[in-house]
Order: sequence, then structure tokens, then C-alpha cells
Amino acid sequence: MGDNEARALVAAANVIHLASVKPDGTPLLRTLNAVVVDGAVCFHGAPAGEKVEALGRPTVVSAERVIASIPSYFLDPERACPATTLYLSAEAHGTLEEVTDARIKARVIDALMAKYQPEGGHVPIAVDHPLYAKPIRGLLVAQVRLDRIDGKAKVAQNRTPEERSRLCEKLWQRGGPGDADAVETILALNPDTPLPSFLQGPENTRLVASVPPTEADRAAQLLDGAYWNGDISRAELAAAHRGSQAWVGARDTNGTLVATTRALSDAAKHAWIYDVMVAPEWRNRGLGFAVVKLALEHPAVRTARKVHLGTRDAHGLYRKFGFIDESEMPPRGYTSSTMHLTRPVHSLGITPR
Ligand SMILES: CC(C)(COP(=O)(O)OP(=O)(O)OC[C@H]1O[C@@H](n2cnc3c(N)ncnc32)[C@H](O)[C@@H]1OP(=O)(O)O)[C@@H](O)C(=O)NCCC(=O)NCCS
Repeated sequence: MGDNEARALVAAANVIHLASVKPDGTPLLRTLNAVVVDGAVCFHGAPAGEKVEALGRPTVVSAERVIASIPSYFLDPERACPATTLYLSAEAHGTLEEVTDARIKARVIDALMAKYQPEGGHVPIAVDHPLYAKPIRGLLVAQVRLDRIDGKAKVAQNRTPEERSRLCEKLWQRGGPGDADAVETILALNPDTPLPSFLQGPENTRLVASVPPTEADRAAQLLDGAYWNGDISRAELAAAHRGSQAWVGARDTNGTLVATTRALSDAAKHAWIYDVMVAPEWRNRGLGFAVVKLALEHPAVRTARKVHLGTRDAHGLYRKFGFIDESEMPPRGYTSSTMHLTRPVHSLGITPR
């Protein structure tokens, strides 16, 4: 992992760990909210707090992202071996420094607010604002420069490409929380891994087990003008994708998302498939079938006894999986009809996340 990826990991981490030593030799270990500003990891504290004691002293900051926990039986069905965790981590060595320039302190606080309270709900921070001028001066803001940073990726790179591919298959089969994401992270960080069979798509495409939230706008773009989305805005569509338990797709050889579908599921009784879309130039090559199949096999969906979807004219595609029309359903022994509640979200002032 390069320096830039390591810095990005620190910047994205929900919390960082800080280890230092006080003048009397006692160790100091803290978990902190932090932001990266001007190439330094920055945080705040009380002027009389313990961190003050470590100012000017050697300090380590670290952040990590756990990708997956790998049980021994993934690798050997008999021999016990304490579980392995795949992770990304970054560690920077430097000195704990106080930030004294009030303008930089204000920027750090502004960045902390933007990271941990992105919805706003406060007066914008300005160094001379009457609400903030005094607190900014009174608050301890400290930093550790990220000049000496090391990134470590433990993502099965010590395994052979074939072993990694099998590991991806096993993670998909296990289907625990985060396992679909883990498959994509392992593949992204080990590009020589042969694509596991469940992700093999029609020619010049590959399927995606979990589309990252950063591509929600691309999905919304693909779905632009879809007849079933009515007055749903692009922002709402993007939020719907980020909020779905399963979101799968397909990429072309450049990595562009060219097919997508998502599902909501309780993983036991019901799942609902929505927003099946293949880019026009990619239709009729089996991609629609492939992404629906992958959605049905997705860990969040595969255990749901009933899967629902609505369609105006693509019944033929879904019949291939065994979907039948409402009118063909066997009698239930009671009569009921589907009801819908449409809520005026905009007039309620709700903004999708
Ligand atoms: C519908 C859609 C997703 C199908 O994707 P696709 O990649 O073109 O479909 P595939 O090539 O995977 O087709 C697989 C099979 O389903 C069938 N099929 C695809 N679309 C169909 C349709 N609209 N009606 C009936 N059968 C259809 C194909 O004929 C093919 O069958 P075959 O293997 O026997 O030839 C795609 O056309 C699309 O994005 N359309 C616009 C959006 C849309 O309508 N989405 C569905 C909303 S419910």
C-alpha cells in the first residue's frame, strides 16, 4: 500500500489510535476522532487534558479497516489455526505538536464538523465569529504530521492467485456481513486473481458482488428516465442504492458500471429486486440475466423465501428464474390485495442520505 492510500485510510477512518508517552514515562493510548488537514492528522482536546503532557514527544497514530475474518477451515478442513483477519492499516510516526495558529485551528474544527456532522446544523465556523473566537483560542488542537507513514495491506497477497480466487468463492458462500465487500476489496488489491466463477459475466464484462457507494451516482445515471422511477430524483435514486442490502452489477473492461440491480431483503421471508438496468449498448448479451442471477444468489437475498419485483414488459427475463405473475399465484386460502402508502417526503423536508 502506497503513502497516498495510507493517508486516505487515515482520513477515512472513523477513529484513529494515538500512542505516545508522558514525561514521567507512562504510556498514553487514546482513540480519537480525527481529520487530515494539510498533511497532518489533527484532533482536538481539552487544554488541561492528558494529551498536553505528550506534546513534543514521539507519537504514533494508526488507523485500520478490517476486511474479513478468515476461519481456518477455509484453508484446511481439519487443521485448526487461529483465525486470520484481512485488513488495511496505516501507521505514522512523528511528534505530537500543538496547532497554535487560530486560523488553522478553525479549519481543523471545521473539518471535524464536516466529517462527523456532515448534515450541518450549526453556524459555519469562522475564526472571528463571536460564537467561536473564544472557544477556538481556548481549545487544544494537536497534530501529528503524516510524513513518515507506512501502509500495510493484509489482503491474502501471500496466497497464490488461485487460492485467493477460492477464498473469494468461500467468502461469497459464507455471506456474512461485509463478505461481499471483502470479495471486491481482495480482487481490487490483487488484480492477478482469477475471477471467481460467480463473477464471470458475458464476454468483455465482469460481475460485481458489491458495488461501492461511490458509484451510486453512476447507477442513478444509468437509471435516468426509467419508466418506473417517475419523479424520483437522481439524489434519491443514489441514496436508494446506498441504502440497499444487496447492490450488484457488471463492469466493462474499463471498469465502467454497465449493468446494475439492487435488492432489499429481510433475508428470511421476503426480498424485493429493484432497478434492473443494462446500459443500452450492452443489452441482449446476457447481462440482465447475469445481474438478476447474482442478486438472487447474493447473501442478503439467497435465504429469502419469496422474492418480489414489478415489471411492465420484461416478464420473459424473470420467468427464466421461476418468477410468476401475481395472477398465476396459487390460491392462498384468503383474499388480500397489495396496498401502498405514498408519502410526500419533500413536503416533510426529509433529505435522503
Ligand atoms: C430488461 C433488461 C434488463 C434486459 O437485459 P439484457 O441484458 O438485454 O437481457 P439479457 O440479454 O440478459 O436477456 C436474457 C434473456 O431474457 C430475455 N429478455 C430480456 N429482456 C426481455 C424482455 N424485456 N422481455 C422478455 N424477455 C426478455 C432475453 O430474450 C434472453 O432470453 P434468451 O436467453 O432466451 O434469449 C434490459 O433490456 C434493460 O435494461 N432494459 C431497460 C430497463 C428495464 O426495462 N429493466 C427491467 C425493469 S423490470
